[in-house]
Amino acid sequence: MNYMILSVDTGIDDALAIAYALGQKEYRLLGITVSYGMAPLEKTYRNTRHLLNLLGHPEVPVYPGSTAPLQGIRTYNGDFHGMDGAANLLGEPSWEERPPEHIKSSVTFIKESIEQYGRDLTLVTTGPLTDLARLLSMHPLQCRAMGQIISMGGALTCPGNSSPVAEANIKADVTASKAVLEAGLPLTLIGLDVTRKTLLTLDEIQTWRDLCSEAGFFYCNLLTFYLNEYRRFYPYLKGCALHDPLAVAAACNPQIFTMLPFHLTVCTDGPLTGRITENLMADHERTRETMVALKVDSQAFKSRFLDMMRCVLEGFT
Ligand code: BDR
Ligand code: CA
Repeated sequence: MNYMILSVDTGIDDALAIAYALGQKEYRLLGITVSYGMAPLEKTYRNTRHLLNLLGHPEVPVYPGSTAPLQGIRTYNGDFHGMDGAANLLGEPSWEERPPEHIKSSVTFIKESIEQYGRDLTLVTTGPLTDLARLLSMHPLQCRAMGQIISMGGALTCPGNSSPVAEANIKADVTASKAVLEAGLPLTLIGLDVTRKTLLTLDEIQTWRDLCSEAGFFYCNLLTFYLNEYRRFYPYLKGCALHDPLAVAAACNPQIFTMLPFHLTVCTDGPLTGRITENLMADHERTRETMVALKVDSQAFKSRFLDMMRCVLEGFT
């Protein structure tokens, strides 16, 4: 059996990744960890719980993680995901919707899961790498004992989305990203090189409304907002990028990707902050390379993704 932990910062395309992960038969989803990212932690946590309830999976545990990057601060402007990370549909969380006080932390949950499942465990991250960097510094042995880590992040051969050279998840916490990329972990990056070539259109999400389920309506409204934001910022793209679900696909259908190995690092200051690049200082004898997805069969992904989303939004999982 294969086991998965999904590490999110929900976020509209994180919402797609959660639904897509719930539909996978290849993996048992052990739990979801959530950090700041597309919105502050109390909102990303609430969004994640809301989605799990909506999708008929309230049993999946959610563990809260970092509230800020290792260094510096995070500011929010509501672009792409709304001020609440959910297309402004959910607003401010109530007290009851905030993470319970004595709940296990994300880092503890991931560490304990590695101890239990070892190489059978896959961690998929779709937000900043802050929690993973904390795991690496607090529990380095366990962090290296996982089967694989797949992270949505980076832009190696194409422009960034957070700056001309930087992808948002990597740039959100460059200190954490550098620590993770240089550690020689069993890491695969699913970056803008492939996610911006895998687009969802307005016509495709209309069919979710036709399902007449509460989840179908909610997801259609989320994605309508996201598509409008894409039209505002990238009028030349014919849809919105399926960043985060594509990272889940890399766990379940790795054969649809073309990957190359690189020793990577991240620029942490100056105009190139957040740019991932080859690490010329890497010890080639001792550190393993990161696999970077450079091509994807987006049609193969899209047809599987749309079928699966239909099932999950109809409640057939
Ligand atoms: C990443 O940043 C966020 O906007 C998305 O949720 C995704 O994880 C894309 O750069
Ligand atoms: Ca995300």
